[in-house]
Amino acid sequence: MNLENPKNILKLNEEEIKKYISSEDIRVTVVGIGRIGLPTALSFAHAGFPTIGVDINKNLIQMINSGNFPLKDEPEFDKIFDSVTKSKKFEATTEISQAVPKSNFIILSLPTPMDKNNVPDYSALISVGKSLNKLLLSGSIVVVESTIEPGFVENELIPLIEGDDHRLKAGQDFTAASCPETANPGEILRDFKRIPRLVGGFDDRTTTIVSEIYRHVFGVEIIKMPDCKTANAAKLTANVFRDVNIAFVNELSILFENLGIDIMKVLEACDKKYNFETHYPGAGVGGPCLPVNSYQILNSARGMENNGMLRIIRAARETNESMPYHVVELLSDALNESGKSVRGSTIALLGLSYKPNVKDIQLSPAEAIIGRLEQLHANLRIFDPYFKGIEVFSHKIETDLINTITNADAAVIITAHKEFCNIEPSLFVTKMKSPIVVDSRGIIELKAAKKAGLILKGIGRGGI
Ligand SMILES: NC(=O)c1ccc[n+]([C@@H]2O[C@H](COP(=O)([O-])OP(=O)(O)OC[C@H]3O[C@@H](n4cnc5c(N)ncnc54)[C@H](O)[C@@H]3O)[C@@H](O)[C@H]2O)c1
Repeated sequence: MNLENPKNILKLNEEEIKKYISSEDIRVTVVGIGRIGLPTALSFAHAGFPTIGVDINKNLIQMINSGNFPLKDEPEFDKIFDSVTKSKKFEATTEISQAVPKSNFIILSLPTPMDKNNVPDYSALISVGKSLNKLLLSGSIVVVESTIEPGFVENELIPLIEGDDHRLKAGQDFTAASCPETANPGEILRDFKRIPRLVGGFDDRTTTIVSEIYRHVFGVEIIKMPDCKTANAAKLTANVFRDVNIAFVNELSILFENLGIDIMKVLEACDKKYNFETHYPGAGVGGPCLPVNSYQILNSARGMENNGMLRIIRAARETNESMPYHVVELLSDALNESGKSVRGSTIALLGLSYKPNVKDIQLSPAEAIIGRLEQLHANLRIFDPYFKGIEVFSHKIETDLINTITNADAAVIITAHKEFCNIEPSLFVTKMKSPIVVDSRGIIELKAAKKAGLILKGIGRGGI
């Protein structure tokens, strides 16, 4: 890759920018090439732009540079990876100083997790922001794809890049934009091709330039936002909407269990109404996005007089975080009804990932379920097709589904992986010591369960 002398984008007029984009000579660096950053970097390289991926994870960089694509559960990206590494449009390094000074379009796809007190942690963005002050070329654009609180780019990141020494001035020497990523793990390529992109810039000119570049790379609708903070607010609003609605359905589920009503039948009927949006109950809401995003919104109101107004979001978090314990209660009830107790029983746990068909345990409700069952002295056997034979949450994961359920006193379905959706209820009945199953994802059909003689409990599945 010849990465010398990238142009000063900010000095180009509108016509020159268009030509520059179609010449595919914009030099891109993506900092943070994990779940979102790597597919993003590959997309820019695939669109023709020489792209460098930067990550502090040495093993990851080593894997990438030896030609192994790390995201096995992201269909089609392995082919793009092979193509752009062969054509040398994409390379990866652990050294940000080897990448940023050769680039004029910097994308930040850094993690924005939270600490154990649920306070959002922007330390990766802060540390990279500081190094950009030293490394950024004049005339560069910095795009933040990470999910952040409204105002973070304006109030924290830009001042860090400008630095106490004022080496750089936003709007003159560099500019910044927010383009919050909304792709779904396991379906990233599909989402990159269909979900409109939100772009909010430091100023209108930045929004226009970044929009043109993203349109060129992804070919999707671009929604221009008034500024960075409105783009970030839109991303958070869409995700918090889901967290809150899932909590609503979880609350109703617990009520319906007591009223002998099956929530699935209720949702099926509601779904027919044009303005109802169906959300499903479950063992909890995990992953790097939804739970964190609710806390980001709550955190953005810190110190404000109307902080207490965000009652719905706070309550939704409480409900969703209580669901793993509800799953254990259902299990305990089912065992008690069969004259057994959790203590000393062998429980088969099916699924660790926070969502189906991906290898990802970030903030997965499985962790709380395992912790609670350990407290209650259950013997655990855990199976997840994505974690066979490795240690997760201090347990060696089983390598085979049948062995996991054989002679178990009960099974709990935590994740609706496709491998679990096709299990015949009769398999549980023939293999297990007692045919007790807690289905936290509503994947087992009630009639089939009854016919097979399964003792089934499920979230919101009253009337079983
Ligand atoms: N995963 C998702 O479902 C998803 C979807 C949309 C948006 N997002 C957002 O995208 C952002 C990235 O999420 P992700 O899931 O890709 O995270 P990830 O953990 O998979 O990837 C982040 C990468 O950044 C690297 N990193 C950490 N600190 C670094 C530093 N100082 N310098 C260079 N690299 C560093 C890590 O090693 C890791 O490889 C987050 O803000 C997240 O909220 C995630």
